[in-house]
Amino acid sequence: MPVSLIVLAAGLGTRMNSDLPKVLHHVAAAPLLHHAMTAGRALDPARVVVVAGHEAEAVTRSAQAFDESVQVVVQEPQLGTAHAVTTAAPLLAGAAGDAIVLYGDTPFIRPETLQAMLEARAQHAVVILGFQARDAGRYGRLIVNGDRLEKIVEYKDATDSERAVTLCNSGVVCADAKTLFDLVAQVGNDNAAGEYYLTDIVQIARAAGLSAGVVICDESETLGVNTREQLAQAEAAFQTRARAEAMENGVTLTAPETVFFGLDTYVGRDTTIAPNVFFGAGVTVESGAEIKSFCHLEGCHISRGAVVGPFARLRPGAELAEDVHVGNFVEIKNAILDEGVKVGHLTYLGDAHVGEFTNIGAGTITCNYDGVMKHRTTIGKRAFIGSDTMLVAPVKVGDGALTASGSVITQDVPPEALAISRAAQQNKAGLATKLFDRLKAIKAAKSKDK
Ligand code: UD1
Ligand code: MG
Repeated sequence: MPVSLIVLAAGLGTRMNSDLPKVLHHVAAAPLLHHAMTAGRALDPARVVVVAGHEAEAVTRSAQAFDESVQVVVQEPQLGTAHAVTTAAPLLAGAAGDAIVLYGDTPFIRPETLQAMLEARAQHAVVILGFQARDAGRYGRLIVNGDRLEKIVEYKDATDSERAVTLCNSGVVCADAKTLFDLVAQVGNDNAAGEYYLTDIVQIARAAGLSAGVVICDESETLGVNTREQLAQAEAAFQTRARAEAMENGVTLTAPETVFFGLDTYVGRDTTIAPNVFFGAGVTVESGAEIKSFCHLEGCHISRGAVVGPFARLRPGAELAEDVHVGNFVEIKNAILDEGVKVGHLTYLGDAHVGEFTNIGAGTITCNYDGVMKHRTTIGKRAFIGSDTMLVAPVKVGDGALTASGSVITQDVPPEALAISRAAQQNKAGLATKLFDRLKAIKAAKSKDK
């Protein structure tokens, strides 16, 4: 049966104290919204609708950057979670199968948990995801009778004995799409908050003779982000899990607590990662690579046998083929380095292609930006770029060519040619000694004056 996803993301998140809507704050180099959508994507949903409200344009851009087939509906004003689901109804009119409601600010629900909810639908018309809370705080409470869910009471509306219940509502709901929209259409706002509560569908369903049930997950999955402190806790929780998973998958982490992964980081087995390495969005590392300490990696691909760092920065579009060596204080952006390229020290390669087995000397810079436009540098195979070469793009260096150290290369270098472009050296006999004597005399005269 097809599944539809409804991701609620209209809230401002007042307690974040931010101009940015809450769901666009990052954990593991990805907006919270993308975490929720990643869990949902594992179900291969036929349709995904994001309910946006505050900063709806930015939320729409972010949702569609994740998956351009996502539909976004704007909920204005925001009258509560049931109202949010109602807003999504026209986009899912006639959708067959089940719908799952997720929150954009709850990043860690596992796909397996959502799958368990779909399976529980065989017994119940409405399935709610609950958890045993260590501190139930202001969560909605699940009032159960045997394996049946009687109702959900919001904290604000709960009696003392209901507040004593520790089985809490995560917010995730699963029901047949048509049933869900029928139920939310009947929700009123006669409660302490004056809001349309999605949680009210449980009682409405029961009154209509439909059964409701609970799937229970670990509290760590339902961690919601409401404050910057919880954002940091979510980051820590994500990293703890990602490090353990990487090690289980055969990656060596010398000091796991100092390595930070992104939501979509992929690292192949038998890769070694030294202390203090940061993975931003969009990094893939093949098996058997080595990442040395203090590297910052984003939007790049590192192939088998490559060695990166220490202190390397790979920016979006950096692609390292097999056995490439990138050493300390090297920055690479939008550049392809073919097999066996060595770029050992103090270099910037941007908007470039470097052919196989070429050696890039220390201090080389591709001067790719003229202040207005970016230009490409193309270097052939088995070339040798001398130390401190400035490659003023657009420029090409042919296969097997050599540039002399300190050269400023403004014209293409033919294959196998040597390009030299620097002032000729002059040696002036004895001039160093004369100069130093004069400077010493000036210094001595000055100190006598004082
Ligand atoms: C909700 C649940 C509560 C549960 C808790 C778990 C209701 C009535 N209560 O409470 O039982 O324990 O989550 O965290 O559902 N949103 C919209 N439009 C709106 C209102 C909210 O899109 O009009 C979105 C928010 O952006 C957020 C989510 O829905 O992503 C939940 O809303 P929130 O206001 O945080 O609900 P809680 O009071 O936490
Ligand atoms: Mg909340």
